Amino acid sequence: MRLQDFALERFFARWEFNAELLLCASDIDGWPMSELLALADEDGRRRWDSLRLGYTESPGDPALRAAIAGLYELVAADDVLVFCGAEEAIFALHNVLLGPGDHAIVVRPAYQSLAEVARSTGAEVTRVELREADDWRLDVDEVRRALRPNTSLIVVNEPHNPTGSVSDRATFDRLVALAAESGARLVVDEVYRFLEFDPADRLPAGADTSVTGVSIGVMSKSFAMAGLRIGWIATRDHDLLARLAAFKDYTTICASAPAEVLALIALRERDTVLARNRAIVEANLPLLDAFFERWAGTFEWVRPRGGSIGFPRLLGDVAIDSFAEDLVRDTGTLIMPGTVFADAGNHFRIGYGRANMREALGRLDDYAARTLRKGSRGDAREPS
Ligand SMILES: Cc1ncc(COP(=O)(O)O)c(C=O)c1O
Repeated sequence: MRLQDFALERFFARWEFNAELLLCASDIDGWPMSELLALADEDGRRRWDSLRLGYTESPGDPALRAAIAGLYELVAADDVLVFCGAEEAIFALHNVLLGPGDHAIVVRPAYQSLAEVARSTGAEVTRVELREADDWRLDVDEVRRALRPNTSLIVVNEPHNPTGSVSDRATFDRLVALAAESGARLVVDEVYRFLEFDPADRLPAGADTSVTGVSIGVMSKSFAMAGLRIGWIATRDHDLLARLAAFKDYTTICASAPAEVLALIALRERDTVLARNRAIVEANLPLLDAFFERWAGTFEWVRPRGGSIGFPRLLGDVAIDSFAEDLVRDTGTLIMPGTVFADAGNHFRIGYGRANMREALGRLDDYAARTLRKGSRGDAREPS
């Protein structure tokens, strides 16, 4: 197995803790520990106060697995396997299901490990493009054309990182039907699920679509608790779960004991947790709408439908890599060039899950006004 560098993580390794303001983070402002503990019910409080720091049950604490199962329609506690983040879940899943002679279909752009871990197993990977001109929506016919007799996985991400797109229900249903008809397993990375701006846009979970369907979830994004490093796979395929459990013996063995209790407390109060997180996103979206309206002709975006990130484009001649680097050096504000996602369209990722987004966006606005007005397409609208 030979993994290429994870471009996004290398980018964050350089800037995340050096930049003053992150305008590209995909997570939501982390929950303060004290506020989370204040949500604990009696059982949660007792678990926390009496916690012993030994190993935990390898599949995950039974109560936590039950709470996770509560996020789905047809999933029971024993259909859930807890991992250290969605990242470990992806790593285990691809390694268990793919190898030389296998084929996987993965959308592009995408969170890099969804494709790179698949490739590293020796499997062949076909990327299916999401295009800005289609509002970054999945084209199921393209997935159909990519299918091969040995396709074992179709991997999508709904809501999608980095574009914030969400397939419409009819498209998703066609994808589910295609997976069933072809025998390929549908894997849905759902780490931004529950952050759809219109709850009517929420898609069925992968694990609910069929017995072999897989959902990948995590506490990091919609639940705003990335520091817990609690993720999971939900599937009703118990043979797959057994193989994943055996793989996990070689990675983390079991999750962190305090993190499991904290995740349980959060999921038992999930409506309160999600409401706080959605409120941050909802307060930021109108600021972004106004920004992109004001900068039409210079920046362009397809308004996301869910999640905490979007993928706008810088128009004109300035390359996004140099723009992003100059922006962070000049203003301390970090955006993420699309090249991190192997995108060649001058896009960049913007994150709107942070309460200080107004300030970060203000700095981008000032910087753009200082450096881009001249020579940008926006100039065409201004008197010379
Ligand atoms: C689509 C997607 N999947 C998986 C992950 C991994 O989540 P975690 O870092 O919490 O393990 C991320 C993180 O950014 C993501 O955006």
